[in-house]
Amino acid sequence: MAQIRFIQQDGSEAVVNIDSGTSVMLAAIRNGVSGIDAECGGCLDCATCHVYVEEGASGVLAPPQPEELELLGSVAAPRKSNSRLSCQLKLPPSITSLTVHIPEAQS
Ligand code: FES
Repeated sequence: MAQIRFIQQDGSEAVVNIDSGTSVMLAAIRNGVSGIDAECGGCLDCATCHVYVEEGASGVLAPPQPEELELLGSVAAPRKSNSRLSCQLKLPPSITSLTVHIPEAQS
């Protein structure tokens, strides 16, 4: 079990618990966190689950696979070095918390 802290553009926050193996996208959807559309349901086909991972966390997360990197080219908000598609983002057991920022737009 880990905690994900979602930070919206207006600075408001939501903290949700996430089971090992659950994607950050599913944690957001199941807990009513706004700002992650996830139109394809996690099939890596929509790029509407874009988040910015907290600086410094990228090194402990599994790197994006080529398909994710390609789809990140289609995100609506500016793509940054810490951009990830949250449907592909799962926490390794060694991580107990993660902060992600919701971008200003998903489509
Ligand atoms: S939910 Fe569609 S690419 Fe992540």
